[in-house]
Amino acid sequence: MIEVRNLRKTYGPVVAVDGATFEVRTGEVFGLLGPNGAGKTTTIHCISGLLKPVSGRVRVAGYDVVEQGRAARASIGVAPQELALYEDLSAAENLAYWGGVQGLRGAQLKQRIEETLELFGLQDRAREPVKRFSGGMKRRLNFACAVVHSPKVLLLDEPTVGVDPQSRVRLLEMVREQAAQGVCVLYTTHYMEEAEALCDRLAIMDNGRLIAQGTLAELRAVLGERELLSLTGTWEERSVRAALERMEGLEILQVKPEELTVAAVDASARLAKIFGLLGAAGAEIRGATVRQPSLESLFIRLTGKELRE
Ligand SMILES: Nc1ncnc2c1ncn2[C@@H]1O[C@H](COP(=O)(O)OP(=O)(O)O)[C@@H](O)[C@H]1O
Ligand SMILES: [Mg+2]
Repeated sequence: MIEVRNLRKTYGPVVAVDGATFEVRTGEVFGLLGPNGAGKTTTIHCISGLLKPVSGRVRVAGYDVVEQGRAARASIGVAPQELALYEDLSAAENLAYWGGVQGLRGAQLKQRIEETLELFGLQDRAREPVKRFSGGMKRRLNFACAVVHSPKVLLLDEPTVGVDPQSRVRLLEMVREQAAQGVCVLYTTHYMEEAEALCDRLAIMDNGRLIAQGTLAELRAVLGERELLSLTGTWEERSVRAALERMEGLEILQVKPEELTVAAVDASARLAKIFGLLGAAGAEIRGATVRQPSLESLFIRLTGKELRE
């Protein structure tokens, strides 16, 4: 339903999206996971037709978004990262506005407003101005405005930012419900846990590039069955490297003056040995954590930095 080929977008000298290629199918939630500035929002804008790519192609429901923009946009619902709500209008009026923009009129519009209010649990506060809503409710309404016209393709740009944990769970359920009804969902986030919990397939984005994509299982397989060991302490980088390079089945992912991360088979079982080697190399260890392979460890492995930086 969404087809992105070699998409490139620049802002003056800044390359925001640098050759992205991916597809999203009907009934699937596809995640675009990456830190702030990775290029997620720019990608969404190029798909929704708000921005024109420098090069590459985007097709939605078979229509080229540049050449057949109107037809492509008819299939799309967008919940933008920056809330697109009229604060002085009520929830129902906001839905009426966005439904109207998408061509709904009269009885059909009215019916869809009521259905959507109910689906999103907003019917009790439907006639109140939005400026009285909590952050979570505004996020919910922002999402609701994207689906009021029952689009086949849904673009959700960090829809849970600033939302309390309970509303977040509910929002994620609603995303799954949309996909279960056959909607094609593109979901951007910088939260790994969300991507892990929600997405059928995902792409990891950094500096405008997609550095890995696949199912969660496929991405985990890239790391293998290795655990991730992170240490804090003081040491000399060169001697620590030299000591660890002698260990079998261990890969050094990053060494900083007071932080060290390695991927290792059976890291937890070999802690004593690793500590011994590091101690002999003059390192003083203050803390250690062992983590299972995850998107976080994959991100560190591919970029040499933490997703949360
Ligand atoms: N309107 C703009 N003008 C100039 N640079 C921009 C603009 N919008 C985004 N950028 C830059 O493009 C890059 C990607 O931004 P964005 O697509 O917003 O990433 P993300 O949504 O992943 O945080 C960043 O380096 C950002 O600073
Ligand atoms: Mg963004």
